[in-house]
Amino acid sequence: MNTILVGAQWGDEGKGKIIDLLAAESDYIVRYQGGANAGHTVRFEKKEFILHLIPSGILHRGKRCVIGNGVVVDPEALFQEIANLHRSGIRVDGRLFISEQAHLIMPYHKLIDRLQEESAHHGKIGTTKRGIGPCYADKMARLGIRMVDLIDGELFKERLAQVLSEKNRILNKIFDHPGLPFEEVYAKYAEYADRIKPFVTDTTFLLAQALKKKKRILFEGAQGTLLDVDHGTYPFVTSSNATAGGALTGSGVGPSQVRDILGVVKAYTTRVGEGPFPTEFGPDLMELVRNKGEEFGATTGRPRRCGWFDAVVVRHSVRVNGLNRIAVMKLDVLDVLPSIRIATAYKWGRQTLKTFPSNLRVLRECVPVYEEHPGWLCDTQGVKRYRDLPRKAQRYLARLSKLLDTPISIVSVGSHRDQTIFVR
Ligand code: IMP
Repeated sequence: MNTILVGAQWGDEGKGKIIDLLAAESDYIVRYQGGANAGHTVRFEKKEFILHLIPSGILHRGKRCVIGNGVVVDPEALFQEIANLHRSGIRVDGRLFISEQAHLIMPYHKLIDRLQEESAHHGKIGTTKRGIGPCYADKMARLGIRMVDLIDGELFKERLAQVLSEKNRILNKIFDHPGLPFEEVYAKYAEYADRIKPFVTDTTFLLAQALKKKKRILFEGAQGTLLDVDHGTYPFVTSSNATAGGALTGSGVGPSQVRDILGVVKAYTTRVGEGPFPTEFGPDLMELVRNKGEEFGATTGRPRRCGWFDAVVVRHSVRVNGLNRIAVMKLDVLDVLPSIRIATAYKWGRQTLKTFPSNLRVLRECVPVYEEHPGWLCDTQGVKRYRDLPRKAQRYLARLSKLLDTPISIVSVGSHRDQTIFVR
């Protein structure tokens, strides 16, 4: 069975742990969008790994990992990650495949991302400053440079000269920045080209061959549905399709190949960066849940904003991804709360909204309609079976499932692999 795994909130749902578990039963693990803005934390053989660009399946020996055409690749971040893995005895050679159509993050993308965030003229998005937005913008404007262009020396030189002169004009005129010297950028990337070449291939062909042989593919989504450029809280989103559709365009696999679409949620909600967040906690609960849940960004270290579970948000995710099952993460973080809320709808003026509004002004003015559930006030971290969860925790999960009209197939009660409950 092939599975697309997506975040069903604003990212950081705990996808890394589930990817790691499902990777054990998969042959290929494919990243299909985003870039080094992601941070998938996996506990493996008593060590903690944070992977930004390479699929988390790389930790499993023998698994093949693909960085698909929809990903934007920063070679500097890639080689750093490969070096970190090598230090832990994990080799990537012969197991890591990078799409020849994947676009490259260039130094001017990172620079422009930072300058835009610092500029008073642009509304601040709170990006990770990894160059993601500017790189995808160039891809759509047909100004991007792909892996296949990089490894063809002549073509790369020509293309870089053309694009960099335009970028330098923008840097000079708009950002009052001296620009980047061609020779420096070229030399650095020419060196990357030699090192990256052995990994670069036609990954659509590779995956088609794998599917012919009935190999199992796990599509590893990054970020989350509410950060999707089409279906998220635009403009406070990332610049790619983090939803299930992105798995297909971002890998070149057709929709008939995948039926299992697993959405990952936290038992509450978090968000990093700017943008509306209707169920956000006040200061006391914020501190309690942030500390208990260790809610600090895996990529930037920024403290995450925390709030109650929002069923309006996740129902939206169920719909736009076609989720057929859900994994609920970090249930144990709620162990200490005497009472727990779920937002079931929003009040906007006199109207009750049951679907997620696209208008950000409306969303900002929405007040969540909550229902209150008694907390279970006991430790769930050691629970191994669903029926051994406290009754009140079972009721909370059953209510989530009902509100989302989708079965919960996995519940996580801690960061270790064995703190996972598979629900029949
Ligand atoms: P960008 O992807 O760096 O352009 O950032 C755009 C928005 O997406 C910001 O609000 C980031 O905080 C958010 N974001 C990007 N990647 C992640 C992630 O992996 N987890 C959570 N938020 C993310």
